Amino acid sequence: MKVSLLILLNLVCIYSQDNENDINYYTTLITQATQKAWTYQWPKNANQHKSRGKPEKYGTFDFIVVGGGAGGSVVASRLSEVTNWTVLVLEAGNVGNNLTDIPAMLPLLQLTDFNWAFNSTPQTTACQGMYNKVCPYPRGKGLGGSTLINALIYARGHQTDYDQWANLVANQRWNYTNVLNYFKKSERFIPTVPHEPHFHGTEGPLTVKNLPLTPQLSSFLEANEELGFDTVDYNANKLGASPEQVCTSNGRRWDNAKAFLAPVRHRRNLEILTESYVTKVRFDVTKRVATGVEFSHKGKNYFVESKKEVILCGGVFGTAQILMLSGVGPKRHLEKLGIKVLADLEVGSTLRDHPAFWGLLIGTNVTAPVVPLRETVQEFLKGVGPLTVPGGTQGIGMYESSYSRGTGVPDIELLFLPSISPSPLSRRCFGLSDQSFEDLNREQNKGQAFRIYVIDLHSQSVGTVRLKSKNPYDYPLIHSNFLSDGENRDIKTLYEGIQLVLKLLETKVFKAMNATLKGCPLRACRGFDYLSESYWFCALRQLTSNMFHPLGTCPMGKNPKKGVVDSELRVFGFRNLRIADASVFPLTFAGHPNAPVVMIGEQLGDLVKETYR
Ligand SMILES: Cc1cc2nc3c(=O)[nH]c(=O)nc-3n(C[C@H](O)[C@H](O)[C@H](O)COP(=O)(O)OP(=O)(O)OC[C@H]3O[C@@H](n4cnc5c(N)ncnc54)[C@H](O)[C@@H]3O)c2cc1C
Ligand SMILES: *[C@@H]1O[C@H](CO)[C@@H](O)[C@H](O)[C@H]1NC(C)=O
Ligand SMILES: *[C@@H]1O[C@H](CO)[C@@H](O)[C@H](O)[C@H]1NC(C)=O
Ligand SMILES: *[C@@H]1O[C@H](CO)[C@@H](O)[C@H](O)[C@H]1NC(C)=O
Ligand SMILES: *[C@@H]1O[C@H](CO)[C@@H](O)[C@H](O)[C@H]1NC(C)=O
Ligand SMILES: *[C@@H]1O[C@H](CO)[C@@H](O)[C@H](O)[C@H]1NC(C)=O
Repeated sequence: MKVSLLILLNLVCIYSQDNENDINYYTTLITQATQKAWTYQWPKNANQHKSRGKPEKYGTFDFIVVGGGAGGSVVASRLSEVTNWTVLVLEAGNVGNNLTDIPAMLPLLQLTDFNWAFNSTPQTTACQGMYNKVCPYPRGKGLGGSTLINALIYARGHQTDYDQWANLVANQRWNYTNVLNYFKKSERFIPTVPHEPHFHGTEGPLTVKNLPLTPQLSSFLEANEELGFDTVDYNANKLGASPEQVCTSNGRRWDNAKAFLAPVRHRRNLEILTESYVTKVRFDVTKRVATGVEFSHKGKNYFVESKKEVILCGGVFGTAQILMLSGVGPKRHLEKLGIKVLADLEVGSTLRDHPAFWGLLIGTNVTAPVVPLRETVQEFLKGVGPLTVPGGTQGIGMYESSYSRGTGVPDIELLFLPSISPSPLSRRCFGLSDQSFEDLNREQNKGQAFRIYVIDLHSQSVGTVRLKSKNPYDYPLIHSNFLSDGENRDIKTLYEGIQLVLKLLETKVFKAMNATLKGCPLRACRGFDYLSESYWFCALRQLTSNMFHPLGTCPMGKNPKKGVVDSELRVFGFRNLRIADASVFPLTFAGHPNAPVVMIGEQLGDLVKETYR
């Protein structure tokens, strides 16, 4: 008895020693990453991947998956289920680590090598309050792609988004009934409230659950209820507010590589090659088939052959860039750069996104305690607390604007982030100019403020992605073109979203904490009556940037005039070149892209299996 008690005490001791080591480890990890981030320099091109020499043959595989990101992880996992097929994944980045695992490391992760760090060209219609009038486009680099650095929000969009998609491409495979089955197939929903079981899967690899309630989040939900917006499961096609559903497991980031690749990495028919930068698809021009790809890997150039298909999953910029470099793109553009045209398709001609207004800071007289890092690390190791909340966003709301009133289809989204303290690091990540940063953060007390992001879900404006040159190591030219639609519908929708936030501030629950708009007026908008419509329009052009949801650079369409891929994800004109990533969205939609990108990856798996059955 005495002996076993001693052993037990010993174990407890070892356990707490381990725990103490972990606390020290993570505290140091976060502190050092923060220090490094201050001086981190973003790359301006992909020159780090430049290699020398004639390409050597790497081998032959049935399928080559270009990009092991959000879509690529799903594709590689599903294709390698067929033991007969050999699958090679080529990913430019590396593997995630203990830092990417911490959901609250957004936005700090943008100041690491896990971010490609693209930028738009200087803009005139939005991003005017950003440094150099440029909208930053962070993109994840590494297995898991953008899900290594994203906010992990799981939001599929509305059923009408998919029914419209199916009608547009004349293939019911993409209608809501059918995509819902795919959403459920991928999902492992951990039952939390609110949720509607019929809309969720519980057996898939992608963990999803509601964030827990905090006092601030509860106020947001209560304020919504006071205005008639119930607390609902927004993934069940409902308007209203909710705690976010996020992809975390035990408080850790559950990126797509962890969900889809990690469990199958041991498969002998699957090879995953990181630090591999793809520069080109090779074609047999007479047979009009893709035969493989060229890539650089650790200082050397290679080519690899595909027996069946090449699947592009390089994301909205990567996929469009590789296609254009390979001669698939707008003829006029490619000819100007001296690239031989194999197929004249509108690659990169329809860049869509969810423009978001970042400029609403709200002060209260409720002080949330500022908890020392060590304590939040302790909580994190138990799977709870602020480090488990991606980027601090907690609440989400889906609403109709006057453009969609009565349809039940949301086109305004609000994201709620309590008690944030402004850090010059986040200023860098959002690309705010010094003046906008100062204006926005005037008078703010740590722990007393929250922000609400206003998002335009069905944006009408369309931008472009073009090659800067025929050099594959140059970053592409990204023209966001936010808030540029002729009718001004986008800016008016966001304005309505701001008015909705101001109404929320008038509710009893927010009044009781003396919630007031802070950090205004913007100096850039001094010429307008503070809070007038023209003031807000000015502010919107200053502080609207992207919600990190670029989409649609290689849209699905009914024919090559209307799109780049057909309704079976094949690039028009080539029977064995497909795309499975966010480039194929034909329209914007009322959600966040990762859930549908996973659905597209699942569809690709089935489409390919049907083709070769
Ligand atoms: C900061 C941020 C926050 C976000 N928040 C959310 C959110 O909360 N919820 C949500 O649903 N979505 C969110 N998103 C968007 C979402 O993560 C992306 O839309 C989604 O991951 C896109 O998937 P993809 O497969 O198209 O591209 P990616 O996941 O970006 O994958 C592309 C992959 O291809 C690789 N690649 C690119 N070019 C090459 C090349 N030439 N050779 C080899 N490999 C290459 C890249 O390194 C990358 O791994 C966010 C994104 C960011 C950046
Ligand atoms: C696997 O390969 C074997 C032999 O090459 C073949 O007989 C069989 O049909 C293949 N199965 C599939 C699912 O392709
Ligand atoms: C990640 O953290 C764990 C402790 O939680 C540690 O054991 C492991 O070595 C760390 N991994 C790396 C690559 O540092
Ligand atoms: C979607 O298509 C399927 C056939 O694939 C059909 O049975 C179903 O009714 C369609 N659903 C909608 C909402 O159109
Ligand atoms: C409420 O906020 C206003 C504006 O910031 C301020 O003037 C006032 O003193 C606050 N009242 C309380 C009770 O905190
Ligand atoms: C906050 O402000 C409200 C409204 O002005 C007031 O009723 C309340 O007592 C204040 N609370 C605190 C903690 O100061």
